[in-house]
This record gives sequence, structure tokens and C-alpha cells, in this order.
Amino acid sequence: MDINLTKENINDANFKSSIIYYEKIDSTNTYCKNNYSKLADKSIVIAKTQTNGRGKNTRVWFSPDGGLYFSILLKDKPKNANLLPLLTSIAIYNALKEFNINIKIKWPNDIIFDNKKLGGILVESKISATSKTYIIGIGLNIRSTLPSLDIKDKFTSLNQFTKNLACTELILASIINSFSDLLKILDSNPSELLSLYRLNCIILNKEVFLNSEKGSKKVFVLDINNDGSLKVKDLESDTIFDIYSGEFSITGLENYI
Ligand code: BTN
Repeated sequence: MDINLTKENINDANFKSSIIYYEKIDSTNTYCKNNYSKLADKSIVIAKTQTNGRGKNTRVWFSPDGGLYFSILLKDKPKNANLLPLLTSIAIYNALKEFNINIKIKWPNDIIFDNKKLGGILVESKISATSKTYIIGIGLNIRSTLPSLDIKDKFTSLNQFTKNLACTELILASIINSFSDLLKILDSNPSELLSLYRLNCIILNKEVFLNSEKGSKKVFVLDINNDGSLKVKDLESDTIFDIYSGEFSITGLENYI
């Protein structure tokens, strides 16, 4: 990747000033976790490939050449940090829209295209006695070759749809610019963020399955709450309750969405 091209197109001087690029690394999130004390606020760590890319719930994030893998480190604890996963999804939505690509978001932070998973976000934190650092890892299949039919059923890559796909460097810069703009709104006007999110959340007002180790139950998704949790109605008992990310996985009634 031509990281200078990305740098030239990033507007915020802080995000521009501390960019680290690896051709190959285990995981950009793991790197940030291990090195957070010496990394500056708003550092960006990018990798061409990852040998141990990590997804949510200890899953592996397949990271071959052709994808976009990076982590953003936030040391200056933002207000409403619980909304960071939602904010990051909208940053990706806004950025890809600039290239005429319309993604959808599956709560809390799966990036969906053509009803399949195009990317994901893994937000982690590192707490020390004096500070809390957030690590926001983003993986997007841009020009990825997906290996098996099994994976192709659930995942997709942008190059399968778009002939004149913008270069990854510019897509990355655009995500950082949008992320930086939204960080300001997170502080001053989180409800604007939530409205944007509700508009593009693919499971809102739909019936879905909530899956956990205990089994699956069918619920109707009523709303995204102001704290970023999901308000659902159990369709058997008619009870309404909130769920937080990580508690369940969500699948559509017939397939992934
Ligand atoms: C998910 O399960 O949907 C989250 C996937 C997050 C993958 C990204 S790739 C860059 C960063 N480094 C990692 O090891 N994971 C995140």
C-alpha cells in the first residue's frame, strides 16, 4: 500500500501524524494492545495482511492480501464511548457512500453488502491505573479472494460488484476523515449519530433470531436505545428487553441477515 497517498488525503493533522504500516503482522489490534503506552493518541496501525487477525467472540478474522486491516487508537477518552462501535459503522457507511457504494449495518457493527458480510469492527480497551485506551479495529474485504464456498455464502468482497473500485488507500483516508468528523458529533450531538445509525441498520423493525449457548429465540427489533443497546420484543412471551453487544449473535429468519 502507498501510505503516503493515504496521508495526503487525511484532513486531521493528529490522525495524519502517527501512521504505522506493516506488510505483515499478527493483528493490528494486538499490536495496539501490546504497545499502547508508547503510541500517540489517534495513532493508526495498518497491515497489508494479518497472520492472526481477530474477530468478535474470539473468532478468526481471515486477512489475506487485498483486504483493508487497520486499528485506530484513542487515548483521549471520548464522551459516550459506548457508542464508538456504532460511530465506526457510520464512518464506514459515509466513506463508502463517497465512492457510490451503499452498505448496510447489522447491529452492532457488521458491515453488510449484498446481504453478506463485507467487514467488521472489533472495539477493545486497555485500562491502566491512570487511563483508558480504546482500540478500534476495522477489517473490510475490498479486493479479497474468499477461499471456500462455505465462506462465500456468508461473506463478500467489494471487487465482486464494482469494476472501477477506488484504491484502498483513498477508501482508508475517507474512513479516517469521516471517523474524525463523527468523533466531534459524539461529544456534542450523539442523538444525530443515533439517527444516522437507525436509518441504515438492516435489522431494525425486523424479526430475527437471538442465538446464545442456551439456544435461539425469535424476537422483533423495536429500536436502538440511546446507549447503543438493542430494544427487542420476545415474540413468544411478548416481553420487551434490551440486549448489549456480545451477549448474543443475531441471524435473520432464513439466512445471515
Ligand atoms: C468481526 O468479527 O466482525 C470483527 C472483525 C475485525 C477485524 C479487524 S482487522 C483489523 C483489526 N485487527 C484484528 O485482529 N481485528 C481487527
